[in-house]
Amino acid sequence: MTTKNHSVADIITRNRVWRSIFRQGYPADDENRARAIMNSWFLHIHPVKVKLHSLKLTYTWGLGVISFVLFLILVVTGAWLMFFYVPSVQSAYTDIQNLDTAVTFGALMRSLHRWSAHLMVVVVFLHLCRVFFTGGYKRPREFNWVIGVLLWVVTMLLSFTGYLLPWDQLSYWAITVSTNIVGAFPLIGEALRQLLLGAAEAGPPALVRFYALHIAVLPVVMTILIGIHFWRIRKDGGLSSPSEASENEYGDR
Ligand code: HEM
Repeated sequence: MTTKNHSVADIITRNRVWRSIFRQGYPADDENRARAIMNSWFLHIHPVKVKLHSLKLTYTWGLGVISFVLFLILVVTGAWLMFFYVPSVQSAYTDIQNLDTAVTFGALMRSLHRWSAHLMVVVVFLHLCRVFFTGGYKRPREFNWVIGVLLWVVTMLLSFTGYLLPWDQLSYWAITVSTNIVGAFPLIGEALRQLLLGAAEAGPPALVRFYALHIAVLPVVMTILIGIHFWRIRKDGGLSSPSEASENEYGDR
């Protein structure tokens, strides 16, 4: 940086308004750059130092970030859909038909929600494969792998619970068949099936239960798990690296 730029940085750094918002100097040197990351609520998700190779698109293929963006799209479009959908067996089916035919942007928002849900299942699975094939599950990242497995399970459960909500023939029989599969589980199967359905067969209590799981319980669990997942990536020293295994078998830093 030129002397002139340094003096601009100095002026900014001494400014009281700047100081009241940013606790560190202008990020013109390594120390202040590190402080800028640590002190900003928006930036502190990133590790202070990033390994160069992990910025290469072909290492992660951006699959984790795409999964997260899809989750955000699902939250926004899902909240919008809630304004037009009531989880009762009398109205669920017609509410969805109205969304497709009468509500402004209804078909668009519903399609965005459905396509993002399908894509999320595919992308999260591909992300899981990427982590596996690059050895990202190895020490010290075993715990984050376990959090990842839970994220995969919650992704599948969100998909499963959302499938019942249109209350058409496809959803009704899909839920009947899949809860029957749960019922075939030894010992606790039947109890689990009845717990899911809230009755002996799919009906009004099942719709309310699946709705509550789909719009409240599972999204909250997902949000908490994603928070831990991101925090853990930072605490595990950023992303795994291809050289890590050969440098140190146990990945200790
Ligand atoms: C909602 C689902 C998920 C989201 C939003 C998510 C997000 C992310 C993001 C943004 C990263 C940073 C690197 C990248 O973009 O690839 C990452 C890394 C990682 N994820 Fe996920 N993830 C999800 C599911 C999973 C699953 C299903 C697994 C494995 C079972 C997993 C295991 C990991 C591990 C171990 C890392 C660190 C990898 C490394 O250091 O190379 N994640 N995740």
